Amino acid sequence: MTTGLTGGVKRIDHVAIVVRDLETALRFYRDTLGIAPSRVLDFPSESVKIAFLPLGGPGGSEIELLEPLGSESGIARFLEKRGEGLHHICLEVEDIDRALRELQEAGAAVLDTSPRPTAEGRGIFLHPKGTNGVLLELIQRKN
Ligand code: CO
Repeated sequence: MTTGLTGGVKRIDHVAIVVRDLETALRFYRDTLGIAPSRVLDFPSESVKIAFLPLGGPGGSEIELLEPLGSESGIARFLEKRGEGLHHICLEVEDIDRALRELQEAGAAVLDTSPRPTAEGRGIFLHPKGTNGVLLELIQRKN
């Protein structure tokens, strides 16, 4: 594929950071930097608690702080193995089903065979081996 995804990539949707404890992390992101969380919610299907820190107003991006719930989730294993830090970058696309199809046709290292429900809409992940070392998520936001 040389022309890219139909509809292109719209924007950086969020940057996700794994933290050991949300309240502790918020002391820096909220209290020192001054980014007010728009919401904090449990997302049980991924065994994670998320604080959303919006930047740049409508159409801006977010920092998401991810705290694992329990010790069995992917995020918990990430924290055990690698410690706190950058987990993934997420880009917004118009149509996630079409993007997935086009990525599969292009032979991209897509980790999902169908879009999964996420906190923001529906998304897929691409393996870091195909993205120069960054776990990359693509999502279509729910309206
Ligand atoms: Co994400």
